[in-house]
Amino acid sequence: MKIKDLLLEGNKYVHKDQSKLILSTILEYNPLELTLKLEDEISKEIEDKFLKCIKNIKNGIPIQYALNSVNFYGLDFYVDERVLIPRFETEELVYNTDLYLKKYFDNNIKILDLGTGSGCIGLTLKHLNNNYDITLSDLSPYALEVASKNSNSLKLDVKIIESDLFKEINDKYDCIISNPPYIGENDEVDDIVSKNEPHMALYADNNGLDYYERILKDVSNYVNDKYLIAFEIGSNQKEDIIDLINKYLKDVKVITKQDMSKRDRMVFIFKNIDINE
Ligand SMILES: C[S@@+](CC[C@H](N)C(=O)[O-])C[C@H]1O[C@@H](n2cnc3c(N)ncnc32)[C@H](O)[C@@H]1O
Repeated sequence: MKIKDLLLEGNKYVHKDQSKLILSTILEYNPLELTLKLEDEISKEIEDKFLKCIKNIKNGIPIQYALNSVNFYGLDFYVDERVLIPRFETEELVYNTDLYLKKYFDNNIKILDLGTGSGCIGLTLKHLNNNYDITLSDLSPYALEVASKNSNSLKLDVKIIESDLFKEINDKYDCIISNPPYIGENDEVDDIVSKNEPHMALYADNNGLDYYERILKDVSNYVNDKYLIAFEIGSNQKEDIIDLINKYLKDVKVITKQDMSKRDRMVFIFKNIDINE
């Protein structure tokens, strides 16, 4: 079949721009290249892949799962139903954490990405600084299969540990970074999210605060004297999380940051670091 005919077939299911975008992603062309190659014949394999993808999207599957691909921080991550789809806000968490690490730490530091999912946080940090000694951990062995696949395809060398929070962690870290499940019982969630993404990546008890509390309660045993803890948080959780920090940690400095939409989405906890900002 020719590219132009396949696109026409796709247009029966989704908007023509989406059809074009999806086929160019599958063929690894940019949209202009695709336009210039409309008369090219494509293989049956690509044709089947494209139509399966289009029909999945039509049936309400998120485009990232349908394409098995998401761009995070300029890197191409494989994703499927075993992992949360990485979000743009999380790029901001990685960006700010990396800035703090560069400013306040030496190069060769140990970092734990707790609840790694696709591996997007820890693998991106490794990409930003190959000297970081990174461990990815998650309770879900299925998520860790995806994280491992991404570590291989991106050629980023990290350790991977299956663990219920700190249960199987036997080391101490300079930085612990986490985007834990934080959607509370009463929070509204879009259907496309609740129907497709793993519930263990989304929901947490106690108004979404349960994981923060469990992490903060034990974290002192898994960090060095000087440390940074970086959390992504729900936009209505800042005050509650600061209360939890004050309950479990002593002599720390806390900085919160908003995301690009001006919502409180990041918390940074510093110990034995003279912060100047
Ligand atoms: C919100 S997702 C974040 C995934 C990824 N870090 C990201 O930012 O896209 C939370 C992750 O925590 C993991 N998780 C849930 N309960 C856990 C537990 N008890 N111990 C470790 N990881 C857990 C989930 O499997 C999921 O991968």
